[in-house]
Amino acid sequence: MKILLTGGAGYIGSNTLNTLINLNHDVEIIDNLSNNSNLNINIKSKFNNINLNDFDILNNFLANKKFDLVIHFAGSINVSESIENPKKYYENNYVASLNLLNSMIGNNIKKLIFSSSAAVYGNDFKNPIKESDFKKPISPYGKTKLMIEETLKDYDKSYDLKFITLRFFNSCGAQLDGSLGERHNPETHIIPLLMQVASGRLSKFNLFGNNYNTYDGTCIRDYVHVLDVVDAHIKSIDYLFKKNNSDIFNIGNNKGYSVNKLILETEKVTNKKIKYEVLEGREGDPSILISDNSKIKNLLKWSPNYSDLKTILKTAWLWENKIK
Ligand SMILES: NC(=O)c1ccc[n+]([C@@H]2O[C@H](COP(=O)([O-])OP(=O)(O)OC[C@H]3O[C@@H](n4cnc5c(N)ncnc54)[C@H](O)[C@@H]3O)[C@@H](O)[C@H]2O)c1
Repeated sequence: MKILLTGGAGYIGSNTLNTLINLNHDVEIIDNLSNNSNLNINIKSKFNNINLNDFDILNNFLANKKFDLVIHFAGSINVSESIENPKKYYENNYVASLNLLNSMIGNNIKKLIFSSSAAVYGNDFKNPIKESDFKKPISPYGKTKLMIEETLKDYDKSYDLKFITLRFFNSCGAQLDGSLGERHNPETHIIPLLMQVASGRLSKFNLFGNNYNTYDGTCIRDYVHVLDVVDAHIKSIDYLFKKNNSDIFNIGNNKGYSVNKLILETEKVTNKKIKYEVLEGREGDPSILISDNSKIKNLLKWSPNYSDLKTILKTAWLWENKIK
């Protein structure tokens, strides 16, 4: 199958790329390398340095290719930055995605897998969260994801664009041999930050809040290994082409770990002391955020195989030792 990955040089995109190439798909990448993306892009893929905000360049590119499917990872991903600079997020996430969708329908490309986020749910929900639960995103980041989701539903109705939206919870970990993992700039994700403290690249870990309504006072989140996230994409491709149905799925582990637990387990896996400082909790951060993953289990026959905390932390540590 001829597949385009937007954001294919990023963390989840480059890990997905590896698997797609191993499955003998013909893959091309669009990425503007804006998030300190992985430079070890698999050489068997074709890389195109294109900004999705440049509609004419994007449209010319798509006009000459006959892609069967687009997997859309590209975007800006920092929730706090989106509150400080919403313009960047409405442009780089919403307008850029709209460019992509418009160019796709103009060029008769009718299948898309979209990277959405648990941020669409906001902070007023019951755990574990179901796909159909109420959505009230609180950050511009979460709002842009929900706007794209809604646009996709309209484009399906009017232009027959079939999509799978995957709402990722916390994607983490690396390839089992540590050859490819997570790297953002600036890094805001908890597991790579803990690894950086363990390796000495970062002097201390900032723990935002220890006064939440949880068993140890620190926030509880749902962590899912990137290999399981990749597998959800492979199963989504199958489903989309067999059923020709649009749908939305959570990708999560259906269980949560507290920040304190992550610190303790990181110390065990790395054999290093994690120095941390407790800061004020961040506004809008829910105490607990856990996915209900029964829909993706039932319909796509997906289940997490690598998302136990040990595998996540061990693979992240192998990767940290490679890049430090
Ligand atoms: N990592 C997670 O835990 C997580 C959780 C929820 C949702 N997501 C979503 O999954 C997707 C991938 O996340 P990731 O962690 O791999 O992020 P990432 O930052 O590693 O990858 C995103 C890629 O998109 C590229 N990009 C950004 N703007 C672009 C533009 N205008 N044109 C072309 N390329 C552009 C970046 O250069 C980067 O390589 C994102 O859409 C993110 O919002 C990720």
